[in-house]
Amino acid sequence: MTQFSIVIPTLNEAENIDPLLTRLFSLDLQKESFEVIIVDDGSADGTPARVRAWESRANVRLVERREKPDLTGSILAGAALARGNVIVVMDADLSHPPERVPALIAPVLDGSHDVAVGSRYIPGGSTEGWPLHRQWLSRLGGWLARPLCDVNDATSGFFAFRRELAATIAERARGYKILLELLVAGQGKLRVIEVPICFSDRTRGASKLSFSHQWTYLQRLMTLAGGTVSFGTASRFAVVGLFGVVVDALLFQWLMSNGAGLALAHIMSFFAAASVNYTLNSKWSFRLHHAGHLQWRQFSRFLTVGVFALLMRGGVLALLIYSWHIPSYLAIFPAIAATAVINYLGSAFYVFPVEHNP
Ligand code: GDD
Repeated sequence: MTQFSIVIPTLNEAENIDPLLTRLFSLDLQKESFEVIIVDDGSADGTPARVRAWESRANVRLVERREKPDLTGSILAGAALARGNVIVVMDADLSHPPERVPALIAPVLDGSHDVAVGSRYIPGGSTEGWPLHRQWLSRLGGWLARPLCDVNDATSGFFAFRRELAATIAERARGYKILLELLVAGQGKLRVIEVPICFSDRTRGASKLSFSHQWTYLQRLMTLAGGTVSFGTASRFAVVGLFGVVVDALLFQWLMSNGAGLALAHIMSFFAAASVNYTLNSKWSFRLHHAGHLQWRQFSRFLTVGVFALLMRGGVLALLIYSWHIPSYLAIFPAIAATAVINYLGSAFYVFPVEHNP
């Protein structure tokens, strides 16, 4: 009986297939107790042929996806076909030591835990041969995920979990960080254990991690944290902000030239611009993530963020001009940039956060 299934995503890993499967099938495990499902995303280097050569000899299955290549999508496709009640996910490049599979599955197979994470960042765990920038990126990724899930290595690609949990992963989840999705979907109720592993960088083939994967990860983290941060919302927010500046300036001039006092002109033009900005942001900038109803509570939050950003702007200006002695005509630019960032993040996380479970 198949107790657990090892799901391995591959993209151009031909040279790694034989050593990986040799090491997996040399483990001190009953051969019929596990299966290996390799999910390939259109490798052009002969990976599928290498896997097919194993299909007749061992409990190995090849799944060839035809969709757009995606790590999370591949793992979910493999999990959907798994016969075992426990699923182990690992990379094909031997950076995850196959010899740690028994230690990883034990706490899930015995029912004491729902998820076991192969962790590089607990005592006994390590990374070997990884360039410094990858070590930093990995640490940073884990650190940023910390508020969302209480594990030391949230970006690990080596983990085991109960098969049913695959259904909890959000449909729109993409990219490298399926473990994070799994942990966040569990909403803190999963019994999670970390098992130390020694990660060693691949010696054959190349990593497929790109800048766009890292950006996707960052965006996903922010969405999971409840924010509506994206290139689309940011650029629309910027357009609305510039429009608001025009409204503010024109109204201010008009009021001043029609005899309004400075205080009245200043307050009226500020409120008019804030109201226009709020309406446009609600109806347009954040419309995809948000119902778009105008609400007083939301408007007051929008104003709160605006006032906070204004105070911050004063603080930044004071710091740059008085402490760092930067001329005021230069200091205004970083101050405006800081205000824009605060305004945008405040809007994305506080005024127009994600309304439904991502
Ligand atoms: N099917 C499929 N589709 N497989 C993919 C894809 C894809 O789009 N992209 C990558 N893979 C496979 C690779 O062939 C490899 O087996 C595994 O996924 C990991 O990909 P790498 O590109 O080698 O990842 P890495 O070594 O740079 O990244 C390591 O560190 C990350 C950050 O901690 C891995 O341990 C990752 O799992 C980990 O998330």
